[in-house]
Amino acid sequence: MIVARTVAELRAALRDRRDGAIGLVPTMGALHEGHATLLRAARQADDTVVMSIFVNPTQFNEQSDLAAYPRTEEADLALAQAAGVDVVFAPDAAEVYPPGFATTVSVTGPIAETLEGAERGRAHFDGVATVVTKLLLAALPDHAYFGAKDAQQVAVIRRLVADLGLPVSLVVCPTSRDDDGLARSSRNTRLSPDERARALAIPRALQEMTDAAAAGIVDAEALRARGTATLEASGIRPEYVALVDPETFAPVAEIAGPVLVAIAARVGATRLIDNTVIGGA
Ligand code: PAJ
Repeated sequence: MIVARTVAELRAALRDRRDGAIGLVPTMGALHEGHATLLRAARQADDTVVMSIFVNPTQFNEQSDLAAYPRTEEADLALAQAAGVDVVFAPDAAEVYPPGFATTVSVTGPIAETLEGAERGRAHFDGVATVVTKLLLAALPDHAYFGAKDAQQVAVIRRLVADLGLPVSLVVCPTSRDDDGLARSSRNTRLSPDERARALAIPRALQEMTDAAAAGIVDAEALRARGTATLEASGIRPEYVALVDPETFAPVAEIAGPVLVAIAARVGATRLIDNTVIGGA
């Protein structure tokens, strides 16, 4: 496994591999089983698997979150090796944002401005869009793998890839969950045992809303109230419980096709997000 620290090293490592398919899995490290599902999907489909590790400072809206973000490179490299990754791209901040850096890729409209964009501020998805564009241009992969857990991030990246005409296919992998249903996240390690138990109200709320929709409740507000009540019963006041169009992120009033249900909530000091799609055909 090659560890490239610069774009030049990455391109050199990929130069002789472009006859086959190249898959890129962008990450911020602190790898867990959720990331591993993306790596496995890439390993199955692509001849060369590239994984990037870069804790991107520009997408953190809170300095404390950036400072507290787990950095576990040694364990990450071991996991990557075990997953059959061919090339790890792990640049430092100066490689990605050299002095004088002044360009931002900014997706506008509800996709980037509602929910996470509203709670975390515009800069969050600008940071994601800019770094993902740079990673795609650095590796020029055939496929790039992202998790459905970050549904809005996927929608933002889909938009920028289409708008900029980047020659890559996106592959979206389902949310990987622990046995108790909690969506896997690098931030879960920050939960105390009590917080972790309370956090289970998030997947429970999603499941209850899924069941209620399947039972014929089509009124989005009624479903939202149900999910919110489940969260509040566990002492969780959500930042949002949203029912939106999965592509445009416009709010929906009635379930008449696939609807993305997205939840964000702080449990203690830890901010968690999760989502599911209901009302699919
Ligand atoms: P990070 O949070 O490290 O996640 C890397 C990828 O793993 C993302 O596509 C994310 O959706 C996916 N992922 C995380 N947890 C998952 C789970 N439980 N199930 C399935 N997929 C999961 O997302 C980022 O990094 C960054 O924003 C990045 C795209 C790398 C840009 O900096």
